[in-house]
Amino acid sequence: MINKKVESAMIKQIEIEGFSSQLYLAMASWCEVNGFAGAAKFIYQQTEEERMHMLKFVHHINERGGHAVISALKKPDHEFKSIYNVFEQVLKHEQFVTDSINKLMDVCATEKDYTSAGFVQWFVTEQIEEEATAQGILDKIKLLGKDKDASFFLMDKELEVMAAAKIAAFAAAANAKP
Ligand code: FEO
Repeated sequence: MINKKVESAMIKQIEIEGFSSQLYLAMASWCEVNGFAGAAKFIYQQTEEERMHMLKFVHHINERGGHAVISALKKPDHEFKSIYNVFEQVLKHEQFVTDSINKLMDVCATEKDYTSAGFVQWFVTEQIEEEATAQGILDKIKLLGKDKDASFFLMDKELEVMAAAKIAAFAAAANAKP
């Protein structure tokens, strides 16, 4: 049976992962209508991954005798100053998610729910990659210089390739599930 405090902290995390998916959907839509096709593809895939993160928590709670109650989500921002600003927001959001996952790990440890702690460890590791990816993209956009949006074309192509790799890895992970 899942510990009640852990269940409640995980329900909060379900909301955060669900909001992450919605936020990235808004960002991908902005990229698509502003001509950043590669970035749009990359971020649309990120929405799928956030939904997968959310579902992992839902299944963990329900499989351990709890009830994953689903909250309403707030409306994400839908206007961004630039493509640079989009990835700035991605990094800021991922840093927020890391903080939230760390707090969730604290609750698991305090409540001595080691099964949940083992489960949450996957997210601790995932957040290293999530932040590093966002930071890496941001660093490259910074190198483009003053008129970042105008010189983004090649970087957008690179993101398209990264998106294809991300989609393939996601499909492989989904197929590997029992
Ligand atoms: Fe589910 Fe990008 O954190």
